[in-house]
Amino acid sequence: MRAIRIHGFGGVDMLVHEEVPRPEVSGDEVLIDVALAGVNYSDTRLRELGRQSTVEVDGAPGRLREADLPVIPGGEVIGVDETGRRVLALCGSGGYAQRVQARRDRVFVVPDALSDAEALALFIHGLTAFYLCRVSARLARDESIVIHGAAGGIGAIAVQLAKIAGAGRIIATASTEKKRALAVSLGADVATDSLGKGLAERLVHANAGSRVDVVLEAVGGTVFVESLAALARFGRLVTYGSSSGQPSEVEPGAFLIGSRSLVGFWLLDFFHDTQDVTRSLAELFELAATGRVKPVLGPIYPLAAAAEAHDAIARREVVGKIFLDPRTPGAD
Ligand SMILES: NC(=O)c1ccc[n+]([C@@H]2O[C@H](COP(=O)([O-])OP(=O)(O)OC[C@H]3O[C@@H](n4cnc5c(N)ncnc54)[C@H](OP(=O)(O)O)[C@@H]3O)[C@@H](O)[C@H]2O)c1
Repeated sequence: MRAIRIHGFGGVDMLVHEEVPRPEVSGDEVLIDVALAGVNYSDTRLRELGRQSTVEVDGAPGRLREADLPVIPGGEVIGVDETGRRVLALCGSGGYAQRVQARRDRVFVVPDALSDAEALALFIHGLTAFYLCRVSARLARDESIVIHGAAGGIGAIAVQLAKIAGAGRIIATASTEKKRALAVSLGADVATDSLGKGLAERLVHANAGSRVDVVLEAVGGTVFVESLAALARFGRLVTYGSSSGQPSEVEPGAFLIGSRSLVGFWLLDFFHDTQDVTRSLAELFELAATGRVKPVLGPIYPLAAAAEAHDAIARREVVGKIFLDPRTPGAD
């Protein structure tokens, strides 16, 4: 079968389209004929650093070394299992391929009402947005919320879920006018530039002069620090990534005054309760099938063009969810 493999850590030229052996499936696994593979920011970290955000080793993300290579990236797919069911699968790695194996308890049947792309947009990205708003941020009716990267895969769904939850004011950030317009069209009350100095002031200004109740933050560095500066009394700053790769230095005392909370989030923690994931996915499927949540679908790249997809993420050009199609080989 065809797949993308990385043979060394580094730039997008490490993504090699080649013929590889079919995956071997053990007793508690399912073989899936892949229709689409989701492309996630975390895949770029795997390629660069060997960090595996969708693989859990001793309660933490897996970490590959050179000796573990080659490896097929790709933590999520939609496809057809051996019994003909259309399923989503959290596969850890191996998704950028024509076939992949996945643990039986990480495979979820998809309703006919949704297209492959719609359903896959609701999986890692949709579930992350769902649990961020519902569980980690404990977003309540009439509260204000800042959603960074609001036109990205997670942000675009989080804006819509915050609206449904009755947020009082949804403040989106994004780096281009086009992305900000999209965030507003999805339900944000206001959108401000994610780039440049003075982010804390812009966030407070966007909230009519008041600090904000909730921030969903996955950029790190100055965005984390500025987000904390804009947080209200009893506010919750939920940290779920570090796209900038920058460290953030914050004193614990910064949370003390104002009784503010820093909440961590890792999606795999939620997959320990398969029934809850099944229920949450069903809720997302229903919201999408009835048009109350509209997955924002970006380009579908041929499998061989995985490097283009990773480039788009690095250039911050991605709007919504992007995919690889292993049924369309494309040019090598
Ligand atoms: N903790 C978890 O379990 C979990 C699960 C899934 C994803 N994540 C994390 O969530 C974040 C977003 O993932 P995603 O798949 O939604 O990504 P995405 O679709 O590419 O969106 C991320 C957005 O972040 C913004 N951004 C700010 N600084 C950036 C930088 N230096 N490089 C790239 N983007 C930057 C960009 O928005 P603007 O250009 O508009 O500012 C971009 O649109 C990532 O950090 C990812 O690792 C965490």
